[in-house]
Amino acid sequence: MFPNIRMRRLRSGKIRNLVRETNLSVDDLIYPIFVDETTDSAMEVPSMEGVMRLPLSEVADEAKRIADLGINGVIIFGIPSEKDEIGSCAYGDEDIVQQATREIKEDLGDDLLVITDVCMCEYTSHGHCGIIDPKSKDVINDETLPILGQIAVSHVRAGADMVAPSGMMDGMIGAIRNSLDEENFENVPIMSYAAKYSSSFYGPFRDAADSCYSFGDRSTYQMDPANSDEALREVELDIMEGADIVMVKPALPYLDIIRRIKDEFGMPTAAYNVSGEYAMIKAAAANGWLDGDRAMYESLLSIKRAGADMILTYFAKELATMLQK
Ligand code: PBG
Repeated sequence: MFPNIRMRRLRSGKIRNLVRETNLSVDDLIYPIFVDETTDSAMEVPSMEGVMRLPLSEVADEAKRIADLGINGVIIFGIPSEKDEIGSCAYGDEDIVQQATREIKEDLGDDLLVITDVCMCEYTSHGHCGIIDPKSKDVINDETLPILGQIAVSHVRAGADMVAPSGMMDGMIGAIRNSLDEENFENVPIMSYAAKYSSSFYGPFRDAADSCYSFGDRSTYQMDPANSDEALREVELDIMEGADIVMVKPALPYLDIIRRIKDEFGMPTAAYNVSGEYAMIKAAAANGWLDGDRAMYESLLSIKRAGADMILTYFAKELATMLQK
């Protein structure tokens, strides 16, 4: 007890470094990139300072810059030039994500991991993550699964190193695993958006990916933010279906979920520091209300401390640059 024990003894100078429990490393980071088939020049996403929608012609150069910063991987999102009810432009060999994947892999080979987001919402005219039942206006789970399998296979055929299904359909991991295995892609891992919440923090992403829904919302398939036990069941099912990495999304409002999942399953666990989390810090920093760099560092550190092994974040390039200094 005090005065024998003084916690402040370990808080100064180099000792502080020695007793630090959590460290951020460039190895923890995955950078999301948006490839836009509708443009020939890079355009900044208005609600996400510094985040660009890139034309295909600029993707390989951007990937090179990311790899040069020491970042291990990117996750690719596509904005197709055409959308329809059934997301037909999601799984063709010449569609946008497939082309972007090929360009990056041709240039960089094993120097950069390419992960692809497997979902339908960027490709459907209604913006939902699957096939819509015209009567109930809800996503039909089981009819969506084979399409997700087809999308995943097309991504891997183009060279994707890992697929990341984000649509929160029941059975999606098993369906995608089967589709990949049938094509002899049994060594390609799946990173499941396992506990994905129906969150207000995806707002800026929907600007970035043009994936806002035209009716309803995503609450019939994404999780209720009030639930925590349910996240464990979601993750457990995905592990049984063959997920290799499980993800929690968003990150900051769900640190408790990251911790529970890491403790319960000991799986490689990812956290998605989503667009709204990024936009909040950027907006506050732009107003001079927060020190942007410190707020970024502290937020990402908290995600690691909660138990995440890797973080998908729009801050990846900035953090990597900061860590180099
Ligand atoms: C697609 C998908 C979304 C995000 C990643 N994949 C959007 C959504 O579910 O509405 C959000 C990422 C972010 O906000 O940064 N299903």
